[in-house]
Amino acid sequence: MTINLDSLTPKQIVAELDKYIIGQNDAKKNVAIALRNRWRRMNAPDEMQREITPNNILMIGSTGVGKTEIARRLAKLADAPFTKVEASKFTEVGYVGRDVESMVRDLVESSVHLVQSTKKEAVKEKALEIVEEIIVEALVPAMGKTGKKKKGEKTESDATQIPESDDELNQRTRELFREKLRRGELENRKIDVEVRSSNAPNIGVMGGPIDEMSMMNIQEMIGGMLPKREKKRKMTIADARKILLEEESAKLIDMDEVKEEAIRKAENLGIIFIDEIDKIASSRSNGGGADVSREGVQRDLLPIVEGSSVNTKYGVINTDHVLFIAAGAFHVSKPSDLIPELQGRFPIRVELQSLKEEDFYRILREPKSALTKQYEALLASENVELSFTDEALAEIARIAFAVNAEVENIGARRLQTVMSHLLNDIMFDIPDVITSNSKVLINKELVNERLGGMVKNRDLSQYIL
Ligand SMILES: Nc1ncnc2c1ncn2[C@@H]1O[C@H](COP(=O)(O)OP(=O)(O)OP(=O)(O)O)[C@@H](O)[C@H]1O
Ligand SMILES: [Mg+2]
Repeated sequence: MTINLDSLTPKQIVAELDKYIIGQNDAKKNVAIALRNRWRRMNAPDEMQREITPNNILMIGSTGVGKTEIARRLAKLADAPFTKVEASKFTEVGYVGRDVESMVRDLVESSVHLVQSTKKEAVKEKALEIVEEIIVEALVPAMGKTGKKKKGEKTESDATQIPESDDELNQRTRELFREKLRRGELENRKIDVEVRSSNAPNIGVMGGPIDEMSMMNIQEMIGGMLPKREKKRKMTIADARKILLEEESAKLIDMDEVKEEAIRKAENLGIIFIDEIDKIASSRSNGGGADVSREGVQRDLLPIVEGSSVNTKYGVINTDHVLFIAAGAFHVSKPSDLIPELQGRFPIRVELQSLKEEDFYRILREPKSALTKQYEALLASENVELSFTDEALAEIARIAFAVNAEVENIGARRLQTVMSHLLNDIMFDIPDVITSNSKVLINKELVNERLGGMVKNRDLSQYIL
């Protein structure tokens, strides 16, 4: 679900995030301000707009407390171009070709998708009409001019309302099918449709490293050179409509316009989330070769975060006003281990809290996509009704918290391992042993029976949970 940013106040943004993320109010508040500031800036006088740069955010918090989740939900909500990269991927040994600029290209790519789908939505009605015509044509091909009326032959038919000619009959049949089609009665009927297979081949790199930009250009060129193949395929009308709608609406929109708008949108509203930024901080204590490449990546990042022009296949984008949100656990290294220039470019620091037992309980129950709801949905597909008592959830939260404390703190991710351990047997027994239409109630006793021993036995839980 996306809401228009215009109507979202910081408070409302936080309220939306609250539907998915428990606690972490400080982080929510700061990302909400940053998001609203984009809109505020767009409404400021022109000359001021250029001056106002986003205050990039650094989120600090141990693993599994919701850093990535906040960024993900934020982007969905903002309907803004968004991309997420893992900083650590730029340091992989022997990794060539994926330069840091690729994150900006990904951002533009995401922006193009957004703009495209908005534009497609705008032409949808028109495209649907065209598609309907294509489908009717596939069902009952028009006779065109070949079925000419032969006068004099069917004079008597006028009186009995029988079609005068094949042409008319054809026309009527088409209308009949069109009506059936509109009533949704033909969705499963199979038809032959011509679909365009865009077969831009993937070219392997021969010889030395080649940067991503030229790679893309080459691929575009070759893709454009090959004739677009029209392929006849048999499929249900429901499927055909989807594919045809894609194709026809693509024909109706102006790609140059899309590119331009997408670049502008990415420049002004884009958000780049750099995860695992702590992995490229070189902690002073563990010096050595790897640190050189880490610092190198940080230096590569500087101009992008600071604002520079990057070439993409859709045009040149300037990153001055792109919002960067970086996140890291900073267990080993500290934010101060980042090179000073980079630290300075993330002026807003937010710390995410470690999750407590009470938070776990709420995470199990409240979020729109809570684990319990996920499992319930999974089993609902087998017609099995799964439910949890409140005491059971409290017990799961208690156990997850205890295992985190004893073995290793992996935050809310622990809930997943605990839940899967708890429910595995049930998942296996459905539908063979626990048959369709049954109800499964998870109560405290059952939780203790299956998981009780785990917490006490440190070694065991290390392996199992
Ligand atoms: N505060 C929270 N409220 C609800 N769910 C949460 C919360 N924190 C974490 N989760 C859930 O736990 C899982 C891991 O969270 P997330 O990916 O945000 O961790 P992270 O902070 O980015 O950790 P890492 O440092 O390992 O990347 C997700 O499935 C997320 O939904
Ligand atoms: Mg993460």
